[in-house]
Order: sequence, then structure tokens, then C-alpha cells
Amino acid sequence: MGITVQIEPVDKSFTAEESQTVLEAALKAGITLKHSCRNGQCGECRAPILSGAVSYKKTESIKLEQSDLEGRTGLMCVGHAISDLVIEAPEVTELEGISVQKCAGRTMAKETVSDDVAVLKIAPAPGVNFAFKPGQYLDLTIKGYATRSYSMASTDSEGLIELHVRKMPGGAVSPIIVDELKHKAIVTIEGPFGTFYVRDSDRPMVMIASGTGFAPVKSMMQGLIASGNSRPVALYWGGRAKQDLYMDKLCQQWAEQNSWFSYTPVLSENTDAGWVGRTGFVHQSVVDDLPDLSAYEVYVCGAPIVVSSAKRDCIGLCGLNPDHFFSDAFV
Ligand SMILES: Cc1cc2nc3c(=O)[nH]c(=O)nc-3n(C[C@H](O)[C@H](O)[C@H](O)COP(=O)(O)OP(=O)(O)OC[C@H]3O[C@@H](n4cnc5c(N)ncnc54)[C@H](O)[C@@H]3O)c2cc1C
Ligand code: FES
Repeated sequence: MGITVQIEPVDKSFTAEESQTVLEAALKAGITLKHSCRNGQCGECRAPILSGAVSYKKTESIKLEQSDLEGRTGLMCVGHAISDLVIEAPEVTELEGISVQKCAGRTMAKETVSDDVAVLKIAPAPGVNFAFKPGQYLDLTIKGYATRSYSMASTDSEGLIELHVRKMPGGAVSPIIVDELKHKAIVTIEGPFGTFYVRDSDRPMVMIASGTGFAPVKSMMQGLIASGNSRPVALYWGGRAKQDLYMDKLCQQWAEQNSWFSYTPVLSENTDAGWVGRTGFVHQSVVDDLPDLSAYEVYVCGAPIVVSSAKRDCIGLCGLNPDHFFSDAFV
């Protein structure tokens, strides 16, 4: 018999099997609890436990805090309910018409856009409508290799799913995707996952991307443009060198065509001859330009260090409401 998980204050409940994590069971029931990495690394799914308990299968490889160890909070992406459970999760979304699905896909195009980034286009199996919200990600599996997560850079009305993959030196999978994955290769895709998507509000938005963290931002921007957006959006895109900003021209075009959009490229290593733009940490440019973020929403995606620094300084130095900070760390 399943275990009942109750969510407060929204007063929703679902049933979880002991073999499922709380998040898996929630997604299966069509309830999206806040989450990002799904492997116990980023902390996005941490929720206060009001009653009951969760257990973890492998504590050594997940990032538990003292409150998790004491049972006051829990990581729902890796925690299994061991008794009826009541958790607090103020933001619970039921993504209408969007459910997690697993299907085959075929690589239809691959373009190398910098020394280490490939843009991949995947066609889901015929008949599959792979619906997602701009900003979400999927799990990609190439036969014989481990599964890895990649954010959609397209919108779901485009048919082909666009992914931006950076080759991690020494990585098990990304070098295979960038260097070896062939045209028309069959892969498995599962998703969508994640709660990194544009919230419905009037607040001006700051988007901070590092490297291929631009992928979900591109999807969000395409979604905003298609919906006739007029809400102010300021994008800061950081890379080590200019070639890391592999779609810089597209961002400049958006800025020319949309009065509500501004774009600030930032390089952390100023080694490009003739670069007269901003330099340093990408989140620092935001702190310098927008010292009062109390009225804003901030969306950050990319390297974990960029996400954690932006969170610390946007909230700690610029007065951002923590509930208005959204992120996907590429852990
Ligand atoms: C929600 C989410 C969305 C993501 N979206 C994207 C995206 O859109 N684009 C993108 O490029 N990436 C994205 N990622 C990251 C992606 O999922 C992979 O983590 C990335 O491609 C690296 O995979 P890999 O198998 O090549 O590296 P891994 O084999 O997982 O290794 C990662 C790094 O750790 C190092 N490493 C491995 N083992 C060890 C060890 N034992 N000791 C020390 N170092 C070690 C490797 O050298 C490498 O640098 C996302 C991640 C998440 C969680
Ligand atoms: S730690 Fe649970 S989603 Fe990242």
C-alpha cells in the first residue's frame, strides 16, 4: 500500500511507493514540486517536513544539511517517504497538458558553434508531442553511456528540440555528444523536468546565464517574444572569452527588435583583443548596475558557482526577495 504525502499550505496530496522518491511520486501524480538537478546536489527541492519522515538510499553522494539530518527538512528528489508525510511547499504547479514522458529521439542536426559547444537538434519519435515550458530540461541517454541532463533551447512549438552541449574536459558523456554523436543517431529522451521557467507576474526580470546556461534563457526569450511580452528583461551572459557567447548576435538582434529587452555580455578573462565590453564575474555586473533588486525576479542558469554567487549577492546585497530567485545549476 502507498504512503500518503500531503502538501501544505496548498492542501494537495498524492500517494508514494517506498521505492519512489517523493518527487518521482509527485511528478507521476501530475504535481510539480520545486526541483532542479534531481540528484541531491542543488538544494532546490528542500522542503520543511511538518510530520513524518524520509530516508535516503545513499547519503554519501548527496548534499544534506544539518536540518535534513535532523528530519526538520528533506531533499524531495532523493528522499523516500517511510511514513505518511506532511511537507511544506508553497509553490506547487500543475503543468496543464505537460507530463513527463520517455521516448526515442533522432539527432537531425549538430553544429559546432565554438571550440567546445555543439548545438544539437533532436526529433522526438513520430507521434510524440514532447510538450514543455521554456526553461525546462530533459534527460538524454546515448546507448552505452550514462544519462545526462540538458536544457531545451527551443520552444515546444518548433518540432525539433534544440540543446546546447558544452564539452567538459574529462567528462564521461559530453565529449561523446560534441565529438562523436552521428547524424540520425537514435537517443532516448525523458522529460520535461525542472521548475526553472518564467513566473507569471509583472515584475521586471533579470536573467543571468553562464556559458551553455544560455540554452534555457534562449527558450524563455523565444517564449516571451512569441507571447507579445512587454515586461522588462535584462539579460547578462557571461563567458570566459568571447567565443563562449556563441549566440551573441542573436542577443543583439533581440535588443534591437524589442524595447523591453537589454543585453549585457560579460567576459571573465579579458584576453580577447579589442574587447571593450564588461569584464569580471557576470553576477557582479548585475550587482553594479541594479543595486536595488527588491522589485525584480532573477533567473540564473549555468555553472554552480555562478548560481550560488548570484543568489548570495542578489539577495544579500541587493534586497531581492528569496522567493523571486529561480535557478538551474548545471551540477
Ligand atoms: C538541470 C540541469 C540542466 C543542464 N543543462 C545543461 C545544458 O543545457 N548544457 C550543458 O552543456 N550542460 C548541462 N547540464 C550539465 C550536464 O548534465 C552534464 O553534467 C555535463 O554535460 C557533464 O557531463 P559529462 O558526463 O561530460 O561529465 P561527468 O563525467 O559527469 O563529469 C563532470 C566533470 O567532473 C569531472 N569529474 C568526473 N569525475 C571526476 C572525479 N572522480 N574526480 C574529479 N573530477 C571528476 C569531469 O572531468 C568533468 O569536468 C545540466 C545539468 C543539470 C543538472
Ligand atoms: S537537490 Fe533535489 S532537485 Fe537538486
